[in-house]
Amino acid sequence: MKFIINRLSIKELVDLKRFHVKCFCSYIISDISFVNYFTMPQYIVMAAIDVRGVILGYAICSALFDEIDIIFLGVALENRCCGIASQILNKIVNSMPALKRIYLEVDINNIGAMTFYRKKGFEIIRIRKMYANGRDAYEMMKKIYDIDL
Ligand SMILES: CC(C)(COP(=O)(O)OP(=O)(O)OC[C@H]1O[C@@H](n2cnc3c(N)ncnc32)[C@H](O)[C@@H]1OP(=O)(O)O)[C@@H](O)C(=O)NCCC(=O)NCCS
Repeated sequence: MKFIINRLSIKELVDLKRFHVKCFCSYIISDISFVNYFTMPQYIVMAAIDVRGVILGYAICSALFDEIDIIFLGVALENRCCGIASQILNKIVNSMPALKRIYLEVDINNIGAMTFYRKKGFEIIRIRKMYANGRDAYEMMKKIYDIDL
């Protein structure tokens, strides 16, 4: 499958919002948050886009000094396990040469995402209570020693 990974601009807001709902059907984001992701300098919005211009996967991160927080990382159901999320992560890491740590939170029932993140070298650092819908989440972290995610 051919695709490129690029930062998105606010012109793609509507497409990304639609895609987000497809990946995270139960996690609604307000319009204002979406606008903030595109307009505030600490956020990185990166997506894999195919030759037709269709979004296949995306990540929204918040970057501060040598750390980033992954806020969302999602790939369309029909395109999963093809390496798209791995490549998006690689692109983000490569775009931040001084990066030392990546953090994220994942619902403790999200076994698929947990498996993915463990394969990418993330470790659980603590449990966060009442993360979403009353459920707990694992906070995970990966130290970056080199650019090989
Ligand atoms: C988690 C998610 C982003 C992974 O995306 P992906 O593009 O399928 O991941 P990749 O293809 O890069 O997978 C990398 C490795 O993780 C493994 N993996 C990915 N998803 C997996 C799953 N659900 N179960 C088991 N292994 C999985 C792949 O098999 C691959 O292993 P390999 O390196 O041994 O071949 C995707 O499943 C998704 O969008 N889930 C719904 C949204 C979500 O829960 N996001 C995470 C919370 S922010």
